[in-house]
Amino acid sequence: MCGIVGYVGRRRLVPVVLEGLKRLEYRGYDSAGIVYLQDGALVKFRSEGKLQNLENILGEAIGASSNIGLGHTRWATHGAPTTENAHPHSDCTGDLVVVHNGIIENYHSLRNELLAKGHVFASETDTEVLAHLIEEYLEKDLQVAVTKALARVEGSYALGVLWTGMPDTLIAARNHSPLVLGVHDEEGGFMASDIPPLLPYTDQIIFLDDLELAVLKGDSHVVYSLVSGDKVEKEVKTISWNSAMAEKGGYKHFMLKEIYEQPQAIIDTVSGRINPETGSVELPEMNLSDADLAGIERIFLVACGTSWHAALVAKYWIERWAGIPVEVDIASEFRYRKLLIDKKVLTISISQSGDTADTLAGIRLASELGSKIVTICNVVGSTMTREAHGTVYTHAGPEIGVASTKAFTSQLAALFLFTLYLAEKRGKMEANKRLEMGRELINLAAVIDKMLPSLQEEIKKLIENYYDVRDFLFVGRGLNFPIALEGALKLKEISYIHAEGYASGELKHGPIALIDKDMPVLGLVPRDAVYQKSISNLEEIKARQGRLILIGTQGDEHLKCIADDVIYLP
Ligand code: M6R
Repeated sequence: MCGIVGYVGRRRLVPVVLEGLKRLEYRGYDSAGIVYLQDGALVKFRSEGKLQNLENILGEAIGASSNIGLGHTRWATHGAPTTENAHPHSDCTGDLVVVHNGIIENYHSLRNELLAKGHVFASETDTEVLAHLIEEYLEKDLQVAVTKALARVEGSYALGVLWTGMPDTLIAARNHSPLVLGVHDEEGGFMASDIPPLLPYTDQIIFLDDLELAVLKGDSHVVYSLVSGDKVEKEVKTISWNSAMAEKGGYKHFMLKEIYEQPQAIIDTVSGRINPETGSVELPEMNLSDADLAGIERIFLVACGTSWHAALVAKYWIERWAGIPVEVDIASEFRYRKLLIDKKVLTISISQSGDTADTLAGIRLASELGSKIVTICNVVGSTMTREAHGTVYTHAGPEIGVASTKAFTSQLAALFLFTLYLAEKRGKMEANKRLEMGRELINLAAVIDKMLPSLQEEIKKLIENYYDVRDFLFVGRGLNFPIALEGALKLKEISYIHAEGYASGELKHGPIALIDKDMPVLGLVPRDAVYQKSISNLEEIKARQGRLILIGTQGDEHLKCIADDVIYLP
């Protein structure tokens, strides 16, 4: 959850890095720091808490003329969130600094080794080990020293290094933690742990791969393999996101903005891929031949968090409409279990970022076992899209809010397209049905667009009755079971209220014991095939004095008889 921004170029360093760090605030952090090179010496500022605290202590340094340096927002892992543990961390001389995301797994033994050699540590972090280890190998060339140091390191890193001995150079390195470079002929060179900090300056992005190191100067960038030491030719990608897309645009916060961006995200994900006259779907970037598609006997969907919930929904669709058995795995479990996968299995990773470590590890394993890999992903050029055989992009634009909203909806749109595509290719769906479903998908954006403003007002009023509870249950059946899981996840991470999602039919097998007036239940009960079953489950809650909020289909008056509050959807 940490953030890195680095810059070398013609602009003043501090504002570039500070603004960049603000664009990464959404990742969460508990301390921050900045370092720049001025008159041959490194100047470092660090503080606990919000970036505002850092800005306060920077004072006049905001206008410093330096144009090379690094910034970091830290989410504590090793050592408390104190100023001493905030990055950047220095070596013994104070002439070298590092910022780091990730975890150095063998930091303990490295630290003991360095202590024995006389190094003096100023923090409890694993990161500081890197500064001293690089110092140990440093003679004339920073790149050589960083390469030697990283050869000793086990774990994950996105790393930025600055040394007074090479005052025009930043070193960036990556292993299992995302790091991108931004390049621009006039503006200079940028590095960051995510794309938004780069957007005001450039749309020319280089995605570093694992075990790569970049030497970044104001007018050049060269990437090397940390394994062979050889230069690596990297493609510079032009991304279509712009700076405004990563700003709040009048909304109170990014999550609200992104909730309202859902219709556009669906339109962008669907448009050009589905023929409104025939319902035929085209997904050429998936890179699967008709023979590949015909040969699929099973599909594994692998993802984490919200993306996993999208996968659970897709299982219902693919099995029902395309007739292929689907297994859904949480990536962190998938990668550690015995996988019965071969070339007849298609593995699909679902990921907003395309860089989630467990999901990435999962597809690598599946690929080794002979499975073709497709990724459903939002970030063009991310690691997953480069490693998969094919991609279905979700065109949701940058997701700044840490709680997925439009990313989830656009994943569902892409998965629905994929289902129609598969059903068509395997001859499982009548043309009429496909056309009807394709049109529904195209219309969905307009329906959501129309409904959101009034829904927001309605929910604002309703929440007065519930905001002070400590626990919540979300329940649904069929497709709405994973949606209940997603609702509970959103409530947990945004409101810090304990919430669980359950399949409605599972309540009677234990959780119903929790029901009383202090445990509101949000039930998802559209008029679908399992409606009556759902209603019976909800009646059981009512019988135990449970408080019920129901989300149902417009016109369903019966819901008012059992619920305390009802939210109707078209
Ligand atoms: O980038 P990914 O989709 O791979 O991220 C996976 C999860 O971390 C993510 O979906 C997370 O659960 C959501 N942002 C929570 O709202």
